[in-house]
Amino acid sequence: MNTILEAIQKSAIRIKHAIDVKDIGYSQEQNSSGETQLQLDIQSDLIIEEELSKIASVHTIASEEKEHPMTLNEEGRYFIAFDPLDGSSLVDVNLSVGSIFGIYDGGFSGKRMVAACYVVYGPRVELVFAQDGKASLYLLQNGEFEYVKEIRLNAKGKIMAPGGTQQHWAPYHKAMIDSFFARGYRLRYSGGMVPDLHQILLKGGGLFSYPGAADKPEGKLRMLFEVFPFAFVFETAGGKAVDGKGRVLEKIHAHVHDTSPCFFGSSEEVEEVMSVYAREQ
Ligand code: AHG
Repeated sequence: MNTILEAIQKSAIRIKHAIDVKDIGYSQEQNSSGETQLQLDIQSDLIIEEELSKIASVHTIASEEKEHPMTLNEEGRYFIAFDPLDGSSLVDVNLSVGSIFGIYDGGFSGKRMVAACYVVYGPRVELVFAQDGKASLYLLQNGEFEYVKEIRLNAKGKIMAPGGTQQHWAPYHKAMIDSFFARGYRLRYSGGMVPDLHQILLKGGGLFSYPGAADKPEGKLRMLFEVFPFAFVFETAGGKAVDGKGRVLEKIHAHVHDTSPCFFGSSEEVEEVMSVYAREQ
């Protein structure tokens, strides 16, 4: 597992460099030197593929950028699903973006997840790796990721990150979010799930929601690349992750790119979601 973490760290340093040197606004066109440029998310995908390909224990990779999973080593043990650059459109407006990784033992399913990791590319580059009951925060300094601390959520927080288009929310979902705000929760939503969830994790708690709604009955966020890894991180840090009916990590996906409604947060807020949704659905 250490070699996988090291490969993710190397990928993160290369992706950060790609973000820093990218000619903004010239995706898929020629840059100032006349070279054809790749979109940052495609470039990030290739970087991660290259780093993970060097590891014998990696059996298969699945990427948000690839239609189908790709087998690397038939003898390998780990299946890794990743979103190479989540929220990549936010790079053009200089907001934070991230990479997300779910590491599965023997096949892609929530129950087989053994570790999860994400990287935030913001004013600083930070990495969170969850495994064996511990969610560890690392900071990139002088070219190396240094351990900072263990992340633990409080039972209750103050932040609300409500995703999706309000116009399409179910009335009970809107009433629930309104009720949180009426009790003093503060809105924190950038449109990038990595920094939005990172903020909730580092500030002790709150609730991030991306519900099923009239326009997107199964939500927007993808189970393998986005929902399962963050569910694993939140549960490891003492929080919860549900789809409104049960734990997301118990859900079965039919296709690699399936989405799911999702709620991540500290335990009291997520329990409230479950009781509202149990009453209304
Ligand atoms: P994309 O990678 O297409 O930019 O999507 C980002 C994801 C996720 O990071 C974020 O939480 C969510 O989409 C935001 O979606 P809405 O704009 O619909 O709230």
